[in-house]
Amino acid sequence: MEKKTYYITTPIYYPSGKLHIGHSYTTVAADAMARYKRLKGYDVMFLTGTDEHGQKIQRKAEEKGISPQQYVDEIVAGIKELWKLMKITNDRFIRTTDTQHKDVVQKIFKRLYDQGDIYKSEYEGWYCTPCESFWTKTQLVDGKCPDCGREVELTKEESYFFRLSKYQDRLIKHIEENPDFIQPVSRQNEMLNNFLRPGLEDLCVSRTSFKWGIPVSFDEKHVIYVWIDALSNYITALNYMTNDESDYKKYWPADVHLVGKEIVRFHTIIWPAMLMALGEPLPKQIYGHGWLLLEGGKMSKSKGNVVDPVILVNKYGLDSIRYFLLRDMPFGSDGIFSNEALINRINSDLANDLGNLVSRTVAMIDKYFGGKIPAEREAGDYDQDLVNTVMQAPSKTEELLEKLQFNNALTEIWKAISRTNKYIDETMPWVLAKDEKNSPRLAQVMYNLAESLRIISIIIEPFMPETPEKIRHQLGLTDKKLTEWDAAKTWGIYPTGIAVNKGEVIFPRIELKKEMEELEQITAAKESEKPMNKAHAVSQPEKALESEASEKNAALVTIEDFAKLDLRVAKVLEAEKVEGADKLLKLKLELGSETRQVVSGIAKHYEPKDIIGKQVILIANLKPVKLKGIESQGMILAASDDTKLLLATLDGEINSGAKVK
Ligand code: ME8
Ligand code: MG
Repeated sequence: MEKKTYYITTPIYYPSGKLHIGHSYTTVAADAMARYKRLKGYDVMFLTGTDEHGQKIQRKAEEKGISPQQYVDEIVAGIKELWKLMKITNDRFIRTTDTQHKDVVQKIFKRLYDQGDIYKSEYEGWYCTPCESFWTKTQLVDGKCPDCGREVELTKEESYFFRLSKYQDRLIKHIEENPDFIQPVSRQNEMLNNFLRPGLEDLCVSRTSFKWGIPVSFDEKHVIYVWIDALSNYITALNYMTNDESDYKKYWPADVHLVGKEIVRFHTIIWPAMLMALGEPLPKQIYGHGWLLLEGGKMSKSKGNVVDPVILVNKYGLDSIRYFLLRDMPFGSDGIFSNEALINRINSDLANDLGNLVSRTVAMIDKYFGGKIPAEREAGDYDQDLVNTVMQAPSKTEELLEKLQFNNALTEIWKAISRTNKYIDETMPWVLAKDEKNSPRLAQVMYNLAESLRIISIIIEPFMPETPEKIRHQLGLTDKKLTEWDAAKTWGIYPTGIAVNKGEVIFPRIELKKEMEELEQITAAKESEKPMNKAHAVSQPEKALESEASEKNAALVTIEDFAKLDLRVAKVLEAEKVEGADKLLKLKLELGSETRQVVSGIAKHYEPKDIIGKQVILIANLKPVKLKGIESQGMILAASDDTKLLLATLDGEINSGAKVK
């Protein structure tokens, strides 16, 4: 029988700079799915790649004084390295500068032109270069790009247009009849209400004002719009419209395109309309996930967060990073990234829960039985409850992974881990070990622990490429049959008579305070690069075409949220530079009858003597942190842009300690 196929894609990335941890989110999620489906026996095609054309890339290359091709080659090499480091198991890597891709995109364009879906006309409108997006006058906000707020350029030129409007009704019908097509559901409503039902306009799909793109084969002064070029990757990578379409026939339609929420519109409107025009089936699902954000507020950013995935992986290990990404935020929603949250997760879930369980189990088998669990065993209290809980985890993991609910799947797995840890507390092996006659009971307890870990080592495999093997090595498991996916569904097959191997601690505990100080130094050293500290998002997703309303909603807080902040007027009593930190000032603040010590990242903008006596605004109930070893009891507010930083002060004098609200 032929294997069932599974085709999953990530977006293709812009090689316009270094990738950060937010970028690896989509790829790690897709990789977990690909690994899971392979373990389930599917014939998987997992595609990722790079989206290399467009005016933005051309300009960046010009700034550097190199050719666009040279420019992208270098960055793409780095991206491939990163995926290797993260053990991403993509089956193909497509570059939109690949010859075959370019040829096929030209053929697609030509076919659509020949059949009348693309026509020539004149375009007048506004163009946002960083976003590579066209806008009509009414779409602009205060004359600026509605996505990013930057300047737009008026352009008038001869252009080709794609008859997007023609597909509007079919698209609406398709979305309504296929509730799984756009997930999560909220994005579906957004597409219908904000874009499709108000009506689609034809789409301008060529440009003549720059060169770095795929030329229209029959009209070479035009290059093809970068999104037509980019979206086609999902089928050009399968050799669509070539001599050998076997992969296309085998894998298309895709099971799921995973994309960030800002590019859902391109994937659920332009892409399906293109496929309809080509007479090809539509992907089964487009899943729009949320963004990984940095903690807001410039001042807290002066604490700095390391977001370079290479540094993070080298520091904490690949599985820790992958675990954090998939565990910490519900797939589909936004989540906050901070080094502190990462370290806390590693310590609690990996070092404490899983790592400890492995070390304790192996150490006890070693200590009580010289490494081999005896055959003579005796069942007892708690056994059945343990088995019940652990045996629920594999099927729940499957059920949740099928819905791309990575965080919930991991939560279920960790229930099994916690249950197993609790089993140790309940059975108290150290008490059993005191009396030789308890040996069969002790043997059964050890067996159950080892068996539970065998099962856990299987179901964490989609998420963690390295840990399962480490656990199996320590358990002495070498028979691959016992660690296949379906072997997680049978209890009691851990072999008797194999020897465990006491090994290294698989997730060492991280000392939070020390680590945060170290990270701060890394960020300080990297200050000049600052690739993504600018916006609140780890990156400002460049092509955000989200409706304004939904964007605003995502960022809204309630009055209750605001009331949690204790904002107070504080008077600066003393200020001095912090030794060895050129950004920091140590301040002594008066807050009514109380004084506070605050370390603030304003030293580049204020001399100590100039701020003594000023009244500033303090967040008084912020959890204290140590910066350069000095405790900071709160944070003062300031406004900043790329060049300036100004402290927020008051419109006159008031008693220090007064509440700001
Ligand atoms: O959009 N959190 O490429 P890209 C979560 N070339 N995901 C993030 C993120 C963050 N902070 N920052 C970026 C493009 N991403 C196009 C795609 S597909 C035919 C063309 C995600 O490099 C982002 O949402 O800007 C997107 O899914 C992916 O990284 C690539 O972004
Ligand atoms: Mg983007």
